[in-house]
Amino acid sequence: MRNDNLTRTYMPRHRALARAAAAYQPAEHASASSALSEALAQYYIKQEPYYRLINDEVELYEAAYSVRMPIMLKGPTGCGKTRFVEYMAWKLGKPLITVACNEDMTASDLVGRYLLDASGTRWQDGPLTVAARHGAICYLDEVVEARQDTTVVIHPLTDARRMLPLEKKGEVVEAHPDFQLVISYNPGYQSLMKDLKQSTKQRFGALDFNYPEHAVEAEIVAYESGVSLEIAKNLVHIGERARNLKGHGLDEGLSTRMLIYAGSLISKGVSPLAACRVALVRPITDDPDMRDALDSAVTTYF
Ligand SMILES: Nc1ncnc2c1ncn2[C@@H]1O[C@H](COP(=O)(O)OP(=O)(O)OP(=O)(O)O)[C@@H](O)[C@H]1O
Ligand SMILES: [Mg+2]
Repeated sequence: MRNDNLTRTYMPRHRALARAAAAYQPAEHASASSALSEALAQYYIKQEPYYRLINDEVELYEAAYSVRMPIMLKGPTGCGKTRFVEYMAWKLGKPLITVACNEDMTASDLVGRYLLDASGTRWQDGPLTVAARHGAICYLDEVVEARQDTTVVIHPLTDARRMLPLEKKGEVVEAHPDFQLVISYNPGYQSLMKDLKQSTKQRFGALDFNYPEHAVEAEIVAYESGVSLEIAKNLVHIGERARNLKGHGLDEGLSTRMLIYAGSLISKGVSPLAACRVALVRPITDDPDMRDALDSAVTTYF
């Protein structure tokens, strides 16, 4: 009974969106409670995040958002996925609710649960429900870490139905017209045991991210860390050397994030050699030969 709405699946995507828009009544929404809009207020990104355009990703994302296509951001750690979604949320003027996924996460952590308090039991929406109900962009970071029984709760939200059944509450939430789901996914980490099901993957459009090309990455490192462009270029050279060792002793290349860390130490007065050791070499490997190889790359440039 409570899932009646879920039988309405024979609807083209644009009609599902139109239906959600028609069902959404701003007046009712506004009077619902100012506490709710306050709750959402914290999720707006107030200042323009610095984002250096790499390709046509902004344009593509805007097109995807206009049809509320769920989006998957694919790419290695520290290459700009989170920064991109923050920038897009700011550009579109939508609140962004981010959930860091992990293997202990349950479906209730996403959709909500009953809480016991002095006045009895009270339902509390989880972050996914808040986003779907009130029209935020929900960003599930490293979604592959979540167990598959948790991941499937996003299925009815990410196909033409755009609805979220709250089984424990006996309610079906129709997604707000502004709602969009975004997930991140690092293709390098997947194993047979831990990967998204095809039925999950095929609900998303995907944007590929990677470390930007030399000049662009140097520009980002210089901007974010405050070092000169010249120093930033050297850091990027070291990063590129290390990335060539991926699969030959290193599991993952040096990320843009690490290069920014090294630059930040340098701009605080730490010597480049020490900064690179602390921020680049030591965190990424414990293997003495690998450390030597990386240390010598560092001394080539500093
Ligand atoms: N195109 C870009 N424009 C501006 N800054 C960038 C860009 N790409 C990377 N960065 C910088 O790199 C840092 C790391 O990026 P971010 O945190 O977005 O990585 P990520 O891909 O989300 O990594 P993870 O998978 O580990 O979460 C950012 O804090 C930002 O300073
Ligand atoms: Mg991230």
